[in-house]
Amino acid sequence: MTRLIVLTDLHYTATAPETGPDPDTRLAAALDHALACVPDAALIVITGDLTDKGDAASYARLRARLAGLPVPVQLMIGNHDHRENFLAAFPDTPCDADGFVQSYRDLGDTRLVFLDTLFAPPYEYPASHCGWLCDSCMAWLDGVLSEAPGRVVIFLHHPPHETGFRAMDYLRLRNGAAFHDLIGRHGNVALTVSGHVHRNISGAHRGTPFAVFKSPMRQMPLDFETLDFHAECDDPPGFGILTLTLDAVQVQTEDVPLK
Ligand SMILES: [Fe+2]
Ligand SMILES: [Fe+2]
Repeated sequence: MTRLIVLTDLHYTATAPETGPDPDTRLAAALDHALACVPDAALIVITGDLTDKGDAASYARLRARLAGLPVPVQLMIGNHDHRENFLAAFPDTPCDADGFVQSYRDLGDTRLVFLDTLFAPPYEYPASHCGWLCDSCMAWLDGVLSEAPGRVVIFLHHPPHETGFRAMDYLRLRNGAAFHDLIGRHGNVALTVSGHVHRNISGAHRGTPFAVFKSPMRQMPLDFETLDFHAECDDPPGFGILTLTLDAVQVQTEDVPLK
Protein backbone atom coordinates (compact mmCIF):
# COMPACT_ATOMS: atom_id res chain seq x y z
CA MET A 1 0.00 0.00 0.00
CA THR A 2 1.28 3.45 -0.94
CA ARG A 3 -0.17 6.81 0.09
CA LEU A 4 0.19 10.19 -1.60
CA ILE A 5 -0.75 13.64 -0.29
CA VAL A 6 -2.26 15.99 -2.88
CA LEU A 7 -2.26 19.74 -2.34
CA THR A 8 -3.47 22.23 -4.91
CA ASP A 9 -3.99 25.94 -5.51
CA LEU A 10 -1.62 27.42 -2.96
CA HIS A 11 -1.81 30.89 -4.59
CA TYR A 12 1.40 31.98 -2.90
CA THR A 13 2.20 35.65 -2.55
CA ALA A 14 5.56 37.27 -1.90
CA THR A 15 4.43 38.67 1.44
CA ALA A 16 1.42 38.29 3.70
CA PRO A 17 -1.58 40.06 2.14
CA GLU A 18 -3.06 43.09 3.92
CA THR A 19 -6.40 41.32 4.28
CA GLY A 20 -7.29 37.66 4.40
CA PRO A 21 -5.18 34.64 5.24
CA ASP A 22 -1.47 34.38 4.46
CA PRO A 23 -0.84 31.51 2.01
CA ASP A 24 2.39 30.69 3.83
CA THR A 25 0.56 30.23 7.14
CA ARG A 26 -2.12 28.15 5.44
CA LEU A 27 0.38 25.91 3.68
CA ALA A 28 2.40 25.38 6.85
CA ALA A 29 -0.78 24.28 8.67
CA ALA A 30 -1.79 22.01 5.79
CA LEU A 31 1.63 20.35 5.62
CA ASP A 32 1.70 19.84 9.40
CA HIS A 33 -1.72 18.23 9.37
CA ALA A 34 -1.15 16.16 6.25
CA LEU A 35 2.16 14.76 7.46
CA ALA A 36 0.62 13.97 10.86
CA CYS A 37 -2.23 12.11 9.10
CA VAL A 38 0.02 10.37 6.56
CA PRO A 39 3.52 10.17 8.05
CA ASP A 40 4.47 7.41 5.62
CA ALA A 41 3.42 9.32 2.48
CA ALA A 42 5.55 8.38 -0.52
CA LEU A 43 5.06 11.73 -2.24
CA ILE A 44 3.40 15.14 -1.94
CA VAL A 45 1.94 16.29 -5.27
CA ILE A 46 1.07 19.98 -5.61
CA THR A 47 -1.14 20.35 -8.66
CA GLY A 48 -0.57 23.93 -9.72
CA ASP A 49 -1.54 27.50 -9.00
CA LEU A 50 1.54 27.44 -6.81
CA THR A 51 1.52 31.23 -6.84
CA ASP A 52 -1.15 33.86 -7.36
CA LYS A 53 0.79 36.10 -9.75
CA GLY A 54 3.62 33.90 -11.05
CA ASP A 55 6.30 36.32 -9.80
CA ALA A 56 9.81 35.33 -8.76
CA ALA A 57 9.44 36.58 -5.18
CA SER A 58 6.40 34.37 -4.59
CA TYR A 59 8.26 31.32 -5.90
CA ALA A 60 11.20 32.14 -3.63
CA ARG A 61 8.91 32.27 -0.59
CA LEU A 62 7.36 28.95 -1.56
CA ARG A 63 10.77 27.38 -2.06
CA ALA A 64 11.73 28.38 1.49
CA ARG A 65 8.56 26.81 2.89
CA LEU A 66 9.11 23.51 1.06
CA ALA A 67 12.80 23.19 1.92
CA GLY A 68 13.67 20.27 4.18
CA LEU A 69 10.35 18.42 4.07
CA PRO A 70 10.70 14.74 5.00
CA VAL A 71 8.71 13.62 1.92
CA PRO A 72 9.59 14.30 -1.75
CA VAL A 73 7.48 16.95 -3.46
CA GLN A 74 6.27 16.95 -7.07
CA LEU A 75 5.47 20.47 -8.23
CA MET A 76 3.13 21.27 -11.13
CA ILE A 77 2.00 24.54 -12.66
CA GLY A 78 -1.45 26.04 -13.26
CA ASN A 79 -3.00 29.09 -14.86
CA HIS A 80 -1.79 31.46 -12.12
CA ASP A 81 1.79 30.30 -12.65
CA HIS A 82 4.51 31.54 -14.97
CA ARG A 83 6.47 28.66 -16.51
CA GLU A 84 9.75 30.51 -16.93
CA ASN A 85 9.72 32.09 -13.45
CA PHE A 86 8.77 28.75 -11.92
CA LEU A 87 11.65 26.92 -13.61
CA ALA A 88 14.08 29.63 -12.59
CA ALA A 89 13.10 29.06 -8.95
CA PHE A 90 12.86 25.27 -9.18
CA PRO A 91 15.43 24.35 -11.86
CA ASP A 92 15.53 20.68 -10.86
CA THR A 93 11.89 20.12 -11.86
CA PRO A 94 11.82 17.57 -14.69
CA CYS A 95 10.45 18.73 -18.04
CA ASP A 96 9.70 16.98 -21.31
CA ALA A 97 11.91 17.40 -24.38
CA ASP A 98 9.95 20.48 -25.50
CA GLY A 99 10.33 22.28 -22.17
CA PHE A 100 6.86 21.66 -20.77
CA VAL A 101 6.69 20.87 -17.06
CA GLN A 102 5.64 17.28 -17.69
CA SER A 103 7.08 14.09 -16.22
CA TYR A 104 6.12 10.75 -14.75
CA ARG A 105 7.31 8.47 -12.02
CA ASP A 106 6.52 4.81 -11.45
CA LEU A 107 5.58 3.55 -7.98
CA GLY A 108 5.60 -0.21 -8.39
CA ASP A 109 3.35 -0.86 -11.37
CA THR A 110 1.44 2.43 -10.98
CA ARG A 111 2.57 5.23 -13.27
CA LEU A 112 1.97 8.76 -11.96
CA VAL A 113 1.83 11.28 -14.82
CA PHE A 114 2.14 15.03 -14.23
CA LEU A 115 0.89 17.27 -17.07
CA ASP A 116 1.45 20.92 -17.95
CA THR A 117 -1.88 22.49 -18.94
CA LEU A 118 -0.79 26.14 -18.75
CA PHE A 119 -2.04 27.92 -21.91
CA ALA A 120 0.91 30.32 -22.20
CA PRO A 121 3.05 32.01 -23.40
CA PRO A 122 1.78 34.46 -24.42
CA TYR A 123 0.40 35.22 -20.98
CA GLU A 124 -2.88 36.79 -22.08
CA TYR A 125 -5.80 36.75 -19.70
CA PRO A 126 -8.55 35.64 -19.46
CA ALA A 127 -7.61 33.19 -22.26
CA SER A 128 -4.54 31.94 -20.36
CA HIS A 129 -6.73 30.97 -17.42
CA CYS A 130 -8.14 28.17 -19.59
CA GLY A 131 -6.29 24.87 -19.78
CA TRP A 132 -4.81 23.42 -22.97
CA LEU A 133 -2.69 20.45 -24.00
CA CYS A 134 -0.94 21.27 -27.24
CA ASP A 135 -0.10 18.64 -29.88
CA SER A 136 3.38 18.22 -28.41
CA CYS A 137 1.99 17.59 -24.90
CA MET A 138 -0.60 15.16 -26.25
CA ALA A 139 2.06 13.24 -28.18
CA TRP A 140 4.22 13.04 -25.05
CA LEU A 141 1.24 11.71 -23.07
CA ASP A 142 0.50 9.17 -25.80
CA GLY A 143 4.01 7.76 -25.49
CA VAL A 144 3.98 7.73 -21.69
CA LEU A 145 0.67 5.86 -21.60
CA SER A 146 1.90 3.38 -24.21
CA GLU A 147 4.90 2.42 -22.10
CA ALA A 148 3.18 2.37 -18.68
CA PRO A 149 3.91 -0.77 -16.67
CA GLY A 150 0.34 -0.95 -15.32
CA ARG A 151 -2.41 1.42 -14.24
CA VAL A 152 -1.93 5.18 -14.56
CA VAL A 153 -2.98 8.13 -12.40
CA ILE A 154 -2.88 11.44 -14.30
CA PHE A 155 -2.44 14.73 -12.43
CA LEU A 156 -3.30 17.95 -14.25
CA HIS A 157 -4.23 21.38 -12.92
CA HIS A 158 -7.31 21.99 -15.09
CA PRO A 159 -10.09 19.39 -14.86
CA PRO A 160 -10.37 17.69 -18.27
CA HIS A 161 -14.14 17.51 -17.79
CA GLU A 162 -17.03 19.70 -16.68
CA THR A 163 -17.68 19.95 -12.95
CA GLY A 164 -21.06 21.69 -13.09
CA PHE A 165 -19.84 25.17 -12.13
CA ARG A 166 -20.47 27.56 -15.03
CA ALA A 167 -17.53 29.89 -14.48
CA MET A 168 -14.99 27.17 -13.85
CA ASP A 169 -16.31 24.99 -16.64
CA TYR A 170 -15.43 27.81 -19.01
CA LEU A 171 -11.87 27.68 -17.64
CA ARG A 172 -11.49 23.88 -17.72
CA LEU A 173 -9.11 22.00 -20.03
CA ARG A 174 -10.62 23.19 -23.29
CA ASN A 175 -9.52 20.16 -25.29
CA GLY A 176 -10.71 17.69 -22.68
CA ALA A 177 -12.61 15.71 -25.34
CA ALA A 178 -9.37 15.02 -27.24
CA PHE A 179 -7.69 14.14 -23.93
CA HIS A 180 -10.42 11.59 -23.17
CA ASP A 181 -10.22 10.22 -26.73
CA LEU A 182 -6.52 9.64 -26.13
CA ILE A 183 -6.75 8.02 -22.71
CA GLY A 184 -9.73 5.97 -23.90
CA ARG A 185 -7.56 4.44 -26.63
CA HIS A 186 -5.07 3.27 -24.00
CA GLY A 187 -7.61 2.10 -21.42
CA ASN A 188 -5.13 2.13 -18.52
CA VAL A 189 -5.98 5.39 -16.70
CA ALA A 190 -7.43 4.59 -13.29
CA LEU A 191 -7.99 8.18 -12.13
CA THR A 192 -7.47 11.82 -13.09
CA VAL A 193 -6.66 14.29 -10.31
CA SER A 194 -7.10 18.06 -10.68
CA GLY A 195 -7.41 21.31 -8.77
CA HIS A 196 -8.36 24.73 -10.18
CA VAL A 197 -11.98 24.71 -8.96
CA HIS A 198 -11.13 25.10 -5.25
CA ARG A 199 -13.73 22.50 -4.19
CA ASN A 200 -13.81 18.75 -3.55
CA ILE A 201 -15.60 17.10 -6.48
CA SER A 202 -15.53 13.48 -7.62
CA GLY A 203 -17.22 11.32 -10.20
CA ALA A 204 -16.50 9.71 -13.54
CA HIS A 205 -16.27 11.25 -17.00
CA ARG A 206 -16.69 9.02 -20.05
CA GLY A 207 -15.98 6.11 -17.72
CA THR A 208 -12.77 7.45 -16.18
CA PRO A 209 -12.96 8.25 -12.45
CA PHE A 210 -11.88 11.74 -11.41
CA ALA A 211 -11.10 13.64 -8.23
CA VAL A 212 -10.85 17.42 -7.86
CA PHE A 213 -9.50 18.72 -4.55
CA LYS A 214 -10.05 21.87 -2.54
CA SER A 215 -7.27 24.27 -1.65
CA PRO A 216 -5.25 24.79 1.55
CA MET A 217 -5.90 28.49 0.91
CA ARG A 218 -9.41 29.54 -0.20
CA GLN A 219 -12.54 27.79 -1.48
CA MET A 220 -15.21 28.40 -4.08
CA PRO A 221 -18.82 28.62 -2.85
CA LEU A 222 -21.41 26.04 -3.92
CA ASP A 223 -23.01 28.27 -6.55
CA PHE A 224 -23.38 26.36 -9.80
CA GLU A 225 -24.54 29.36 -11.84
CA THR A 226 -22.14 32.10 -10.82
CA LEU A 227 -20.03 33.66 -13.55
CA ASP A 228 -17.63 35.14 -10.98
CA PHE A 229 -14.28 33.38 -11.45
CA HIS A 230 -13.05 34.85 -8.17
CA ALA A 231 -16.00 33.88 -5.95
CA GLU A 232 -14.78 32.58 -2.61
CA CYS A 233 -16.18 31.56 0.75
CA ASP A 234 -15.06 30.67 4.27
CA ASP A 235 -15.18 26.88 3.87
CA PRO A 236 -12.24 25.30 5.69
CA PRO A 237 -9.03 24.57 3.81
CA GLY A 238 -8.13 21.01 2.91
CA PHE A 239 -6.22 18.52 0.80
CA GLY A 240 -6.52 15.07 -0.76
CA ILE A 241 -5.02 11.68 0.00
CA LEU A 242 -4.63 8.87 -2.53
CA THR A 243 -4.07 5.32 -1.36
CA LEU A 244 -2.74 2.86 -3.93
CA THR A 245 -3.42 -0.79 -3.14
CA LEU A 246 -3.07 -3.86 -5.30
CA ASP A 247 -6.72 -3.64 -6.33
CA ALA A 248 -7.73 -0.01 -5.88
CA VAL A 249 -6.94 3.67 -5.97
CA GLN A 250 -8.76 5.14 -2.95
CA VAL A 251 -9.51 8.86 -2.60
CA GLN A 252 -9.84 10.64 0.76
CA THR A 253 -10.33 14.30 1.53
CA GLU A 254 -9.34 16.02 4.76
CA ASP A 255 -9.95 19.50 6.13
CA VAL A 256 -7.23 21.43 7.90
CA PRO A 257 -8.16 22.65 11.40
CA LEU A 258 -7.94 26.44 11.69
CA LYS A 259 -6.32 27.65 14.90
FE1 LIG B 1 -6.51 28.27 -8.22
FE1 LIG C 1 -6.33 27.43 -11.56
